[in-house]
Amino acid sequence: MLNPLSIVILAAGKGSRMKSPKAKVLHEICGREMLYYSIKAAREITDDVIVVVAHQKDAVISAMQKYFEGLTFITQDAENFPGTGGAMKGVVPKYDDVLVLNGDMPLIERTSIEKFLANPADIVMSVIPLDDPSGYGRVVIENGQVLRIVEEKDASDAEKAINTVNAGVYAFKHHVLQTYIPRLSNANAQGEYYLTDVIEMARADALSIAPLYVTEEEFKGVNSKNDLANAEMIMMDRIRRSWMDTGVIMQLPHTIYIEEGVRFEGECIIENGVRLSGNTLIANSHIKAHSIIEESTVKNSDVGPLAHLRPLCVLEDTHVGNFVEVKKSTLIGVKAGHLSYLGDATIDSGTNIGAGTITCNYDGIKKYQTIIGKNVFVGSDTQLVAPIEIADNVMIAAGTTVTSGKYESDLLILSRISIKKVPGFFSRFFGKGNE
Ligand code: UD1
Ligand code: MG
Repeated sequence: MLNPLSIVILAAGKGSRMKSPKAKVLHEICGREMLYYSIKAAREITDDVIVVVAHQKDAVISAMQKYFEGLTFITQDAENFPGTGGAMKGVVPKYDDVLVLNGDMPLIERTSIEKFLANPADIVMSVIPLDDPSGYGRVVIENGQVLRIVEEKDASDAEKAINTVNAGVYAFKHHVLQTYIPRLSNANAQGEYYLTDVIEMARADALSIAPLYVTEEEFKGVNSKNDLANAEMIMMDRIRRSWMDTGVIMQLPHTIYIEEGVRFEGECIIENGVRLSGNTLIANSHIKAHSIIEESTVKNSDVGPLAHLRPLCVLEDTHVGNFVEVKKSTLIGVKAGHLSYLGDATIDSGTNIGAGTITCNYDGIKKYQTIIGKNVFVGSDTQLVAPIEIADNVMIAAGTTVTSGKYESDLLILSRISIKKVPGFFSRFFGKGNE
């Protein structure tokens, strides 16, 4: 159910602690930019989601438009009004209740956001007690009342010792923002307009400010590559658990990597060390240890161990075994058990691909298609030079190089150099005593 609430997500900052040319909110966890996750949680709650952008704004906007329609993007004048308070300047919310989220909190969930709505105070702000509060704004609380937030760079030694920190999520009544955002100043260590200064001003005017204690797991911001890796571990765990809840079997789940875009249907078994990425669908299939599947569909099939499906493969009723690499290919009812490369290929049912078969799909300039019909027996160590089309019911002898062209049904295709036997060669070459 949607709520009469506007959610503003701050995503305009550089994120210099990430030490990256890429905007912080575009760093990925589980295959999607971290900003995607906070927008996703926000969209579950309301239709009015406003994203504030500035740094690399075109990249941020186009990345999010891949996933969501109907977002409102606002550009911060970061040159003249830097900082989280500056980010709020142009924001015009649709509703009276306004929730502000930092865009670097990918782990926040709908149920936690909803707790802010339940409180009638003029400002509800998130606080977390942390063993190590460094890097965060400290919350000065006296007699249970929030007095102000002090950024680390502006804090005295006594304030730095406070371990209750501002998690960076706030619910404001719209009139509070209208009153105080224009009054913010940048007279602080960073020369920025801090949204957090609203608290002290509101306190002076005797507005009600309620601290809401939140969990470190969901509210910890991602500010560094270490934070990014930790956030990914937590998100990955959630993804795995939710799929196991739907009936997927995972062996040693902590070793399995599953991205946000992956889906499962029916009963699937995923063995240890498997990596599933992109827009992948696994249905009623068994993915064996240490296989990698990217952006592909696998139905009623088994893959691996140690197989690699690169993007845009479709496998149905198929067996792909050890050290088989498949790319942009459709295999329906096929067996490819060992050591092969199948690229840009369409292979039909009953066909067996012998060990060491290679589709030679690239001539150094262009890629070409390999089309193989039903019940074709491809002998081991066959090279299929594309473009090539092989009709149904054909046998290809082991070791054959099948050159480009069309091959009709009911053939044996064979290219082999005849065997030469040299009697007595071994003992002459290695000398006596090699019985
Ligand atoms: C902010 C809080 C701090 C809190 C911490 C929690 C302020 C002044 N400080 O600090 O009290 O403990 O979050 O994680 O708010 N952003 C903009 N425009 C800007 C600057 C930042 O949109 O000009 C966005 C960033 O993209 C980011 C979010 O605001 O998503 C927070 O910015 P960040 O630089 O991480 O703030 P912190 O220093 O972590
Ligand atoms: Mg931060």
